[in-house]
Amino acid sequence: NLVPMADILQDAHKRTYGVGGFNINNMEFLQGIIRGAEELNSPLILQASEGAIRYIGMDYVIKMVEAATDKTSIPVALHLDHGSSFESIMNCIRAGFSSVMIDASKKEFEENIALTKKVVEAAHSVGVSVEAELGTIGGTEDDHTVDEKDAMYTDPDQALEFVERTGVDALAIAIGTAHGVYAGEPELDFERLKTIKKLIDMPVVLHGASGISAEDLNTAVGYGVNKVNVNTDFQQSFTAKIKEVFAEKPELYDPRKYCGPGRDAITEKVKEKIKMLGSNDKA
Ligand code: G3H
Ligand code: 13P
Ligand code: ZN
Ligand code: NA
Repeated sequence: NLVPMADILQDAHKRTYGVGGFNINNMEFLQGIIRGAEELNSPLILQASEGAIRYIGMDYVIKMVEAATDKTSIPVALHLDHGSSFESIMNCIRAGFSSVMIDASKKEFEENIALTKKVVEAAHSVGVSVEAELGTIGGTEDDHTVDEKDAMYTDPDQALEFVERTGVDALAIAIGTAHGVYAGEPELDFERLKTIKKLIDMPVVLHGASGISAEDLNTAVGYGVNKVNVNTDFQQSFTAKIKEVFAEKPELYDPRKYCGPGRDAITEKVKEKIKMLGSNDKA
C-alpha cells in the first residue's frame, strides 16, 4: 500500500515541513530507514536510483519494499531518483513505483519541458507522481562567481514557466547544494529559494542534502523545501559503523554481526534528519 508522493508533499507544502527522500542501497538501508520513520511516526519517500535498481534488481526492490510497507501505518511512497529517460521511467511505473523523477536538467529548457511534460502525461494517467529538475545541482560550489551562479542556479521566472507548462507535482531546484561530500562549506542561496517558492507555490525539492548543517536544513524547510534528498550521509553512517565494529573485532566474519549495527546506525541518522525536517508525528 504505497501512496502517491504528491499526497505526502501537498501536506508538507501546506503545513511547511520537509519529508525525507531517502535512498535505499540494499536491504539494510531499506529496513534501517523505514524503522527510523516508523519510530518517529513520519511520512517517508523511499527512493531508488537507476544504479541502485541495477544493483538490487527491480524484482527485489519491489518485493522488499512491499514487505517493508505491508503492515506499516506511515504513508510511504516509492520513488525513482534521477530517472534519465522516458523508457526507464515507464519501466519503474510498470513495476509498481508510486512516483518518479525525470531529470532532464542537463537538456535545454525547451527540451527539458517537452520530456518532463511527456512523463507527466503518462505518469498522471495512472496516478503516479512526478518530480522534475531545473538548474544544475553541483559538483563543487566554492569558487563560483555571481555570473556562474546565475547560469547554474534555478532561475525563478523559468521555474514558474516550467511548472505551469509541465504540470509536475514537485520541482527540484539548484540553490548551491551538490551530490556527495562537500569540499568546502556549502553556501545556500536562501533568497533565491524564497523567491522561487513564492512564485511557484508548490512542493520544492532539495537534492544533495548530505553534509548540509541542521541549521541550514531547518532554514531551507522554513522557506518552503518539502522534500530533502539524502544518500551519502546514510552511506557514511553505515560504513563508519562497520569499520568501527571491525576495528574492535577484526576476526568477525558473520555479516549479521556488522551489517546489523550498520543498519541501526542508519536508523539513528534517519531519526536525526526527520527531526531536522519536522516530519515527525506528521504521518
Ligand atoms: O543523487 C544520486 C543518489 O545519491 C544516488 O546515486 O547513482 O550512486 O545510486 P547512485
Ligand atoms: P547526497 O548524496 O548529497 O545525499 O544527495 C542525495 C540526492 O540528492 C539523491 O537524489
Ligand atoms: Zn539527487
Ligand atoms: Na551532499
